[in-house]
Amino acid sequence: MNTGPAATNNPAASSAPSSANSAVATTATAIVNIASLVTNDPSLGDGTPLGLIQDAAVVIDGDRVVWVGESSKAPATDNRVDAGGRAVIPGFVDSHSHLVFAGDRTAEFNARMSGQAYAAGGIRTTVAATRAASDEALSANVARYLGEALRQGTTTIETKSGYGLTVEDEARALRIAAEHTDEVTYLGAHIVSPDHADDPAAYVALVTGEMLDACAPYARWIDVFCEKGAFDGDQARAILTAGKAKGLHPRIHANQLSYGPGVQLAVELDAASADHCTHLTDEDVDALAHSSTVATLLPGAEFSTRAPWPDARRLLDAGVTVALSTDCNPGSSFTSSVPFCIALAVRDMGMTPDEALWSATAGGAAALRRTDVGRLTAGARADLSLLDAPSHVHLAYRPGVPLVTEVWRAGVRQYAGSGH
Ligand code: NIG
Ligand code: FE
Repeated sequence: MNTGPAATNNPAASSAPSSANSAVATTATAIVNIASLVTNDPSLGDGTPLGLIQDAAVVIDGDRVVWVGESSKAPATDNRVDAGGRAVIPGFVDSHSHLVFAGDRTAEFNARMSGQAYAAGGIRTTVAATRAASDEALSANVARYLGEALRQGTTTIETKSGYGLTVEDEARALRIAAEHTDEVTYLGAHIVSPDHADDPAAYVALVTGEMLDACAPYARWIDVFCEKGAFDGDQARAILTAGKAKGLHPRIHANQLSYGPGVQLAVELDAASADHCTHLTDEDVDALAHSSTVATLLPGAEFSTRAPWPDARRLLDAGVTVALSTDCNPGSSFTSSVPFCIALAVRDMGMTPDEALWSATAGGAAALRRTDVGRLTAGARADLSLLDAPSHVHLAYRPGVPLVTEVWRAGVRQYAGSGH
């Protein structure tokens, strides 16, 4: 199922604003004089999947968008914010990160950049540091990386456990994660715990038993690293099935380092997302294209492990819904920057700037099965960024430049950078 950008252009749909706009109270706030507004509603603006409106305005009431359209037609409101010809985009939806950790893996990165390969085993280093950290230190770390992400335009973020690997440490990680975000994933099956290195079956029993019971109350999702050196297809199926029985919905680290069963399993179990998707057979691509499982691409990991890029073009051309996220973690992708991932996806993965922007907003929302975020239309949560640029294309065109100058989340300006 593809809800992503296609090469279609529908001039008949260019008469925004839409009939979907709600009645506007004068107490609302209008952001006017927007050079270009990405709505992600193809019935608006230029009729492309981005629903791009030029010379636009957005009206916010409380935590919601109530009106979008041409700036000259904006309804009267008591509060007006002049965007000064900047672009406005929906807040990024980063549907894949690992923020509950302590320490870093600088030495491992250094070794990799001197030619060593990435392997799942490095996770043990972070497990040891995370177990040794206090709750306060872990929480402060999550807050730090969420702050970084927010200042780069991220307004919704998923994050996981996976660096505890005991009942207490996994439950603790999820409890801390849930204090910071609604999108929390239980990843007790990140690797076989070092405490059970000789008996992986016993660890799977723990992950699907006592650990699941302790973790499920804090989580919405369950994830497995399905990979050589982590969990095989049968183990992954057992873990995700047990999670489903407890009301958690599956997502999978699939086909990152090698070909394998992860993607097919994701489709079989109706996982919301198969994440990484770096090594795919034609059958894998076909299975994704005929499913409601999103392929979440994480180019920060390929950048940081000097691995081959996932082929976004192949997935998009097959009709797969693609999301783009950071995978922020200290081992394989220590970046909280969605703009960086957009630039990589455009430069190296065959995505157009429009497709990359869609995947980092609406695509991320699809990977979290959310309809209230990832778009700027009446009824959506008022999550948006102002860019110090006339259009979203500059995110890829001006890589590494901090273009996000203002971020609003749930109708509140959460970040206002310098320069405006
Ligand atoms: O998504 N692949 C598994 N997990 C992380 C890496 C975690 C780590 O190396 O610490 C990932 O890339
Ligand atoms: Fe990951």
